[in-house]
Amino acid sequence: MENQSTFGEVMITEEQLKQRIKELGKQISEDFKGEEILVVCILKGAVLFLSDLIREITVDTKIDFMAVTSYGASTKSSGVVRILKDLDTGIEDQNVIIVEDIIDSGITLHYLRDYLMGRMPKTLKICTLLDKPERREADIKADYTGFEVENKFIVGYGLDYDQKYRNLPYITCLEGCEI
Ligand code: PRP
Ligand code: MN
Ligand code: MG
Repeated sequence: MENQSTFGEVMITEEQLKQRIKELGKQISEDFKGEEILVVCILKGAVLFLSDLIREITVDTKIDFMAVTSYGASTKSSGVVRILKDLDTGIEDQNVIIVEDIIDSGITLHYLRDYLMGRMPKTLKICTLLDKPERREADIKADYTGFEVENKFIVGYGLDYDQKYRNLPYITCLEGCEI
């Protein structure tokens, strides 16, 4: 994985991302009309999605960050979720939306949802840019989904391989695109 020549085709273009994120922002704004929301970005993968999504949301919005990791320098989930950074404030009685880049096995979000539900938010929703339903191990469904993707190892727009390629402005996959 030395350089960009190891990528496969562009799977989701910048324009497609922009258009779909606009729709998601509109839908969230309608669903929470007159309310305030707290958008929780799951670092690091969701950081690009968060920054584009919140600019499409028109209700009062606060943001916070959690850092969680379940993958090391490997393309496979370890199955173990570690919290590296928790929220800065309490979420009791707040409308919380967890923002993720991808739901793969579902282990990360399954853990996070239960963890945050224990803090008694008013509502807790999940917004994911990408969903890979084929790989699901834990029972978890998003309330807002950008795109369903095939079972390929995808990178770009926040998604990494060994911490690299998050900066690509589109979604692509590693050469051959197989896991
Ligand atoms: C990736 C991805 C999701 C999670 C999805 O994060 O960004 O957070 O894995 O996998 P799962 O559904 O199988 O749990 P990762 O642990 O690689 O950390 P990162 O966001 O810092 O890259
Ligand atoms: Mn992540
Ligand atoms: Mg990762």
